[in-house]
Amino acid sequence: MKMIRDDFPILTVTENDKPLIYLDNAATTSKPLQVLRAVEAYYRHDNANPHRGVYELAARATKAHEDSRTKVAEFLNASPDEIIFTQNTTESLNLIAYSYGMEFLGEGDEIVLSVAEHHSNLVPWQRVAKRTGAKLVYLYPDSKGHLTEEELNQKITSRTRLVAVGHVSNVLGIEIPVSSIVRLAHQNGAVVVLDCAQSAPHMQVDVKRLDVDFAAFSGHKLYGPMGIGVLYGRKELLEKMPPFLTGGDMIGSVHEQNSTYAEVPRRFEAGTRNVGGEVGLAAAIDYLQSIGWENIKAHERELMTRALEGLAKIPHVTVYGDLSPDKRHGVISFNVEDVHPHDTATLLDADGITVRAGHHCAQPLMEYLKINACVRVSFAVYNTAEEVEAFLNSLRQVRRWMGFGSESTL
Ligand code: ALA
Repeated sequence: MKMIRDDFPILTVTENDKPLIYLDNAATTSKPLQVLRAVEAYYRHDNANPHRGVYELAARATKAHEDSRTKVAEFLNASPDEIIFTQNTTESLNLIAYSYGMEFLGEGDEIVLSVAEHHSNLVPWQRVAKRTGAKLVYLYPDSKGHLTEEELNQKITSRTRLVAVGHVSNVLGIEIPVSSIVRLAHQNGAVVVLDCAQSAPHMQVDVKRLDVDFAAFSGHKLYGPMGIGVLYGRKELLEKMPPFLTGGDMIGSVHEQNSTYAEVPRRFEAGTRNVGGEVGLAAAIDYLQSIGWENIKAHERELMTRALEGLAKIPHVTVYGDLSPDKRHGVISFNVEDVHPHDTATLLDADGITVRAGHHCAQPLMEYLKINACVRVSFAVYNTAEEVEAFLNSLRQVRRWMGFGSESTL
């Protein structure tokens, strides 16, 4: 662990004059030196505009761009021409909504979402529904945060044309039953869009094994740079989709009145690419793989177990979703009775502990849980058991700090 922490220079900064305890990893992770160095090396030695110049430097930039695509393809068990670079998961999901949803859905078709979706996998589908006359149908989790077979059977029907679901909720941290969803969707002739923003940093996402039609994730939640995201699409689907953004480098030929488009994936990559970000993402994937999924999972499970056990023992704390660490990936959301989540987060920050508070871009889930907001703690490979203990110790003081008196301290 010490060796891993040494890779992340930002972990040595102070927060409110205390050693930083960074527990907002579901919002974005810190970046290891291996990623910082790869980005710097690209800009120092290989920077040019890919697919444009005929000179040697541009060829190196093009190679960096395409090698990164191949790395991402291997990471997801896809083929390189099924990988599109975007800015982030949000852009990836919008690309599917505009280029697939707006084109292939119509009046009376049903789009199935979970009420736990992040706004990025919800607002684009509202736009599609408004434009096409399709209808949004919501899956509701049970009291522990799970989507039951009964709920899936009721909602995924012959009217369903598309199911768009988050692999792991950014609030509940709970993994959805992807194989049941895919089986039902495909039986009914619908496509499945999997938002992997919160799963890709914690588990292997093998798009062929999962058999999903589209999948999206962000580099910055996976120890890579901000501003680089990925969309996987099954090749035969991508091939029939029109472009999302248009402009330079996504064309076949352009004439005054019309244009033809490039083959996939370049059809979906208009304008100058974020090659530095792509190279950084490839380095982040190498970094994760050098640690290994089994080690990552075992370490994060230990943190999750400690945190969930500790939270369960603190009176006045409500944790949302299943308390079993086996069902969770990276994220725990909770509230302290009578304390606004922003106050809890601010008090923890005074101890150097960073957590996110608010609606977490999941307002329909907040409504479903009958809360306005909550506090979220989220883990990464570099967090330690000591940090979890420090977080629990601080949290025990929150009600006292808020003036509830010693008799009602946590
Ligand atoms: N989507 C990120 C989160 O859940 C920003 O915090």
